[in-house]
Amino acid sequence: MSDRKAKLTVGDKSYEFDILDGTVGPSVIDIRSLYAQTGLFTYDPGFTSTAACDSSITYIDGDVGELLYRGYSIDQLAEKSNYLEVCFLLLYGELPTAVEKEEFESRITRHTMLHEQMHYLYRGFRRDAHPMAIVCGVVGAMAAFYHDSTDITDPEQREIASIRMIAKMPTIAAMAYKYSIGQPFVYPRNDLSYAGNFLNMCFAVPAETYKVNPIIERAMDRIFTLHADHEQNASTSTVRLSGSSDANPFACIAAGVACLWGPAHGGANEAALNMLRAIGTPDRIPEFVAKAKDKNDPFRLMGFGHRVYKSYDPRAQVMQETAREVLDLMGIENNPTLQVARELEKIALEDEYFVTRKLYPNVDFYSGIILDAIGFPTSMFTAIFALSRTVGWIAQWKEMIGDPQKKIGRPRQLYDGSRRRDYVPLTQR
Ligand code: SDX
Repeated sequence: MSDRKAKLTVGDKSYEFDILDGTVGPSVIDIRSLYAQTGLFTYDPGFTSTAACDSSITYIDGDVGELLYRGYSIDQLAEKSNYLEVCFLLLYGELPTAVEKEEFESRITRHTMLHEQMHYLYRGFRRDAHPMAIVCGVVGAMAAFYHDSTDITDPEQREIASIRMIAKMPTIAAMAYKYSIGQPFVYPRNDLSYAGNFLNMCFAVPAETYKVNPIIERAMDRIFTLHADHEQNASTSTVRLSGSSDANPFACIAAGVACLWGPAHGGANEAALNMLRAIGTPDRIPEFVAKAKDKNDPFRLMGFGHRVYKSYDPRAQVMQETAREVLDLMGIENNPTLQVARELEKIALEDEYFVTRKLYPNVDFYSGIILDAIGFPTSMFTAIFALSRTVGWIAQWKEMIGDPQKKIGRPRQLYDGSRRRDYVPLTQR
């Protein structure tokens, strides 16, 4: 709390509201008593100027392109840490000691299998179902299989639900992929890393052993880390709002998966690669840039722009470097899609329309190029984003549930519909 006050004058009345300071970043005006004092609501569709909660998990400075997980910068974590260590950090607030890290990895590893009965859930879907439709359904169905971790008032059940979600999402996503290509499910293996196990479950076949390539494994793990959390984005806010009604954790994460699927959000990685492929060659870039600038054309450059980042998304920077590493390894350094992406980025960042609107590549612009090079179909890109973001959703959900000031989220509205009117009988309409 600061001793600063915000003053509001409405007609001949004046009101004062406390200004609350965080550790870093914008302070907030505490307007919780606004309606009681003034009879007025604030109006902020899209929440461009609204802090919906306080949190100590992730901090973003969109102006300088900074992203911190519990105070540690994303570029340092991407280079020096790994996904399970980042999971521990996001969940518990500190980097683990060697003993804590080993214990945590062991707990996650031993929860990677799905209840065998859930295999029948997959058989109910069409083979050509989008993997996100399957993931959304299966995650929600976890509440029907893991009843002993649905009581959100029990801290132990909250903890085991968190471990189960993080551990089982790679299995759920990999099974969605295998099902879509008509191959048998591959069980998790405890002798592989988190990323290696996911790659094995996706690409191993009974007919031959799959050898995890360490560079691909490292790139996969880095992609998981880069997507792990991102403050109060649309899907995280969905998880928080769902959790505010005391819904079980699996239902809340399923809601987050559903929201992430949208092409304006996590679905942008699939849309961005499809866009780069549609452009095809650098000479067609001006045609697409013109479409993106045309107000009468709904087309947008997918993987560009961000609500918060008004400079280069720090994740996109790391992703671009990783793309180059993976493509070099695969011997496809002159990959036409990467060439189009880099030329498009260059042209857009010199174009007045994008410069004035501070539209830069975001996390989704390069990730698809890496996932495509590793061998994933575009339909799996958002499922991989959801897998990565599960720890962020869970950490934010646990923080909200553990908040003694927790209240059910219930926004109001500016009503501009009909005034009260009487029913009109059918014969008089
Ligand atoms: C993610 O919030 C998060 O943290 C999300 C995320 C996470 O980790 O959780 O970072 C992940 O979702 C990244 C964003 C992925 N989405 C895309 O790449 C889709 C393309 N981008 C846009 O749809 C858009 O940039 C948003 C949705 C990301 C942000 O939209 P805003 O903040 O609501 O901005 P806006 O739509 O009001 O746009 C401002 C202006 C508009 O033009 P004017 O009305 O001022 O003339 O910029 C234009 C927009 O038309 N604009 C674009 C554009 N993005 C914005 N024009 C062309 N191409 C684009 N991509």
